[in-house]
Amino acid sequence: MDDCNAFLDLLKEKLETTPLEIYNAEGFDNLDFYGPDCNGNLIKLRDGRCVYVDTQNFALKDYDQYLTNVAQSVQGASHFGDRSHLLGGKYLYQAIPGVSLPAKRDPADRMPIFQRMLSKVGIEIENRVILDVGCNLGLIGAHFLKNGAHWYHGWDLEEVVESSDQVLSSIGCTRYSLTGGVLSERTDLRAGLPLHLNNSMNGILTYLSIRGHVGWLPALKTLSWEYMIYEGHEGESEEVSRAHLAELSEMVACSIVQESEITDGTSDSRYIALVRRA
Ligand SMILES: C[S@@+](CC[C@H](N)C(=O)[O-])C[C@H]1O[C@@H](n2cnc3c(N)ncnc32)[C@H](O)[C@@H]1O
Repeated sequence: MDDCNAFLDLLKEKLETTPLEIYNAEGFDNLDFYGPDCNGNLIKLRDGRCVYVDTQNFALKDYDQYLTNVAQSVQGASHFGDRSHLLGGKYLYQAIPGVSLPAKRDPADRMPIFQRMLSKVGIEIENRVILDVGCNLGLIGAHFLKNGAHWYHGWDLEEVVESSDQVLSSIGCTRYSLTGGVLSERTDLRAGLPLHLNNSMNGILTYLSIRGHVGWLPALKTLSWEYMIYEGHEGESEEVSRAHLAELSEMVACSIVQESEITDGTSDSRYIALVRRA
């Protein structure tokens, strides 16, 4: 009972200082907040901490404003490429759903093109693990998860993945993990993967506008991916993209099975390809 009371005091204090509110008509005068265990919702962990597991009792006050604040706070970390005074200096690289801030790329518009390419060769997103190298805010992952992907893992710079984590959790994603750090030819991509993904053989790897920054990472050989979606950079011709993919195939046996082009956000058109691992 003492633990429960201490927990409820802490919770009341948090409700004063965070955008959280209790989402039921009676507030704390409800079975779900009566000691000693809040109707089975308050659990004491072995390390002594108490956790409250019934998240449906809580909501965010003024969610739209909350999300806009999160989006504004991550603009600097997400921005990649030239600044635009017209678009507000360091503007978002990836558009955040539900927020009307300008962005260089719009994952919501890119997703149907990825889906079309995958479905043309009979690949379902459902239950796939998505491995996203150079993930930026992780919003490509959010769209894959919305379409039934089993799990999403993204890699980007430390300061960028801190923002990805904030954005993904703010829009309700839970089945994801992220690794922060400078990607280089020495990076062990497997090191950051959660244990439950280690034997997963059905991965879809996304290598979107990243090869020009980090090259083909040798650790791509060690990841369990069956398909890769490759996207070139602005101004990269089909011939050049195909030459890059030929280079990849010398490192990991694979071949192009679909090709297309993509235009979204404020970006020029880019080459994309679906690559199958041999
Ligand atoms: C052009 S953006 C592409 C983002 C995302 N793949 C997409 O297409 O929406 C390149 C991303 O790669 C990341 N990046 C560039 N060089 C990197 C490096 N050496 N290590 C880790 N991340 C890097 C940037 O932070 C940025 O998020």
